[in-house]
Amino acid sequence: MKQRTTIIADVQLEEQLAFCDKIRGYWHEKNIVPTAYVETYGCQQNEADSERIRGILSESGYAITDNAEGADVVVMNTCAIREHAEQRVFGNLGALTHTKRRHPRQKIFLCGCMAGQDHVVQRIKKSFPHVDGVFSTHHLWQFPEILHRVLTVGKRTYYVEDEAGSIAEGLPQLRDNMLKAWVSIMYGCNNFCTYCIVPYVRGRERSRKCEDILAECRTLIESGTKEITLLGQNVNSYGKDLEENIDFSDLLTRIAEIPGDFLIRFMTSHPRDAGKKLFDTMAASSKIAKQLHLPFQSGSSRVLKAMNRHYDREKYLNLVEYAKSVMPELVLTSDVIVGFPGETEEEFEETISLIEQVRYDSLFTFIFSPRVGTPAASMVDPTTKEEKNRRFDRLCAVQNRISEDIHTGYIGKTMRCLIDGQDNEFLTARTEGGRLVRLHGSEALIGQFKDITITGATTWSLTGSLVGKE
Ligand code: SAH
Ligand code: SF4
Ligand code: F3S
Repeated sequence: MKQRTTIIADVQLEEQLAFCDKIRGYWHEKNIVPTAYVETYGCQQNEADSERIRGILSESGYAITDNAEGADVVVMNTCAIREHAEQRVFGNLGALTHTKRRHPRQKIFLCGCMAGQDHVVQRIKKSFPHVDGVFSTHHLWQFPEILHRVLTVGKRTYYVEDEAGSIAEGLPQLRDNMLKAWVSIMYGCNNFCTYCIVPYVRGRERSRKCEDILAECRTLIESGTKEITLLGQNVNSYGKDLEENIDFSDLLTRIAEIPGDFLIRFMTSHPRDAGKKLFDTMAASSKIAKQLHLPFQSGSSRVLKAMNRHYDREKYLNLVEYAKSVMPELVLTSDVIVGFPGETEEEFEETISLIEQVRYDSLFTFIFSPRVGTPAASMVDPTTKEEKNRRFDRLCAVQNRISEDIHTGYIGKTMRCLIDGQDNEFLTARTEGGRLVRLHGSEALIGQFKDITITGATTWSLTGSLVGKE
């Protein structure tokens, strides 16, 4: 059934923008230009949210810095996906007691996915008294109001009530990179994979209206953006909640119709909802990168069922086979979890054999990390930590060999790449498939698509040289 997503009303957003004005006035009266530092953990969704947080801060008169030392506002935009991510945040949060001592007017905020977990909020309340405000992802659009309250009332402020989630259009946004831009097309997730915290901290799946996405993409392209990455936890279910009859493939086609020389990428695709229509749409448009991040998580159908992934090994392999048949040049990447509760040695071997069969260009590899409140956290897990580490190392070794093999195969090929930056004495570029290439050349080339001949390869990257004159 189609459900209406809650859209934050214009008048509510105007109220928030009025708080930005008040904050600017607050500092103006003191004759101070305040500074703010935003630290981002986690995935591209959080990177995109941080661009909105910086947008709000900049609208409120703050100059953005790249250091917590001496900053008037520090925002930690956190990730809850694995325990390690949370530990890093708690460690870095502890260190902020010192920056605050040296700069007592510093205000510290914690937001993002960790702020959506009750046990984290309780721990902050109890053990981190120097944190001034906590807000979950549902309340990001209210950051102006929260910041104003902390500045003027001086009380610790929590906006952490759990909500199904809403969409706020028109928040200010300070983009990190105009050449390559993130565009969120949907928020939240309905899949409830048994190991995953995301649906609990980001709420239900909700899609932005197609016209809003198209307008954002058009503006970006007109201002020189060459690569747009569409973001969602499960982009393939785009549109299911909209009244308009549109799916992700239709959205891709509509964006590709915008005039201009640009590439579209997207992440993440869930194998449950990806299918022939998507792959045919990708194959048909030269503006859609032939790159697919298709997390498989495990090669064992039994484990996939326990993970609540809604596909099995066979269905996954069939999808990949079809995608490769219509896009022979496709660059495939994926996520995999080792040591899910109850994973046997044989089941782990099925993961290895799937990797050998598919031959991914690269892989994001994770050891299972129990997350409070998820079903997998209370599943029986007899495998020792040492054994999981051994499986993890074995998996990485197999994948590194495959990545190196595939990269070596690029040598001698000429590929159209977007030159996107600099790294020491090199320029950096990305192939259409998203592989990193280093080359020599003039800085003036940054922002251009150029033909590059690949001359060398390692497990992680390629080296190349420009074809023809600069
Ligand atoms: N929405 C995306 C993934 C988001 S999280 C998708 O479904 O594909 C990114 C990756 O982190 C996941 O694909 C998974 O491999 C890993 N991950 C998520 N929860 C985890 C956990 N509890 N332990 C270990 N890895 C996890
Ligand atoms: Fe997590 Fe699964 Fe949703 Fe991805 S699809 S965010 S792994 S619950
Ligand atoms: Fe982390 Fe939240 Fe992304 S948990 S991976 S920042 S959606």
